[in-house]
Amino acid sequence: MKVVAINGSPRKDGNTRLLLEAALKPLAEAGWETRYVQIGGKNIHGCRACFKCWETQDKRCVFGKDAFNEAFAQVLEADAVILGSPTYFADVTAEMKAFMDRAGFVAMANGCLLAGKIGAAVVAVRRGGATHVFDTMNHLFQISQMVLPGSTYWNMGYGLEPGKVAGDAEALNNMEQLGQAIDWLGKAIKNAPPYPVRKSREG
Ligand SMILES: Cc1cc2nc3c(=O)[nH]c(=O)nc-3n(C[C@H](O)[C@H](O)[C@H](O)COP(=O)(O)O)c2cc1C
Repeated sequence: MKVVAINGSPRKDGNTRLLLEAALKPLAEAGWETRYVQIGGKNIHGCRACFKCWETQDKRCVFGKDAFNEAFAQVLEADAVILGSPTYFADVTAEMKAFMDRAGFVAMANGCLLAGKIGAAVVAVRRGGATHVFDTMNHLFQISQMVLPGSTYWNMGYGLEPGKVAGDAEALNNMEQLGQAIDWLGKAIKNAPPYPVRKSREG
């Protein structure tokens, strides 16, 4: 089974990365193929609302010159997707929002491509707003008919400077449990009948 972690922080070696890696570790140990994709700090623009993806239905965004399609292709191959973002004014980064809007729309345009995949959101934060960031990412998962594992707390870790979250033992414990929950869920889904996907609107 395959899991992809997508980092929306422009600080590529910052706290979000540490949290994502902590969630990936138990999955790698359980034999999952792990992929890591950096979108923060890369050229990735928002959805242009051209609706071309509803015409082409080729599982891609027609704007192919930025970082979107490569990252989205990794998501399509994966059984589980972990989105990670730092808290920026109590929400996801601009790069993560751009990725989510286009991923959600291309997936819907092509007949709910994300349905039945596992989705988990991970947030780095200095002090406040992380639950809202968590909610923002979970909104994409839920409208996309994805399946969400829980953990010991909402998936967030505290720290301002890069690396600071390594001192948040509760967060690291939560990430380890999250990885284990994804492993458990992935194995359960593998032996389950196909997901009963339902088109959310006429394409
Ligand atoms: C533009 C900007 C906005 C931020 N907004 C918040 C905020 O609303 N709440 C908060 O607690 N921390 C805020 N922070 C701090 C980051 O969320 C925090 O440093 C986090 O650990 C960064 O993760 P990273 O190292 O993966 O980039 C902000 C940082 C930046 C650069």
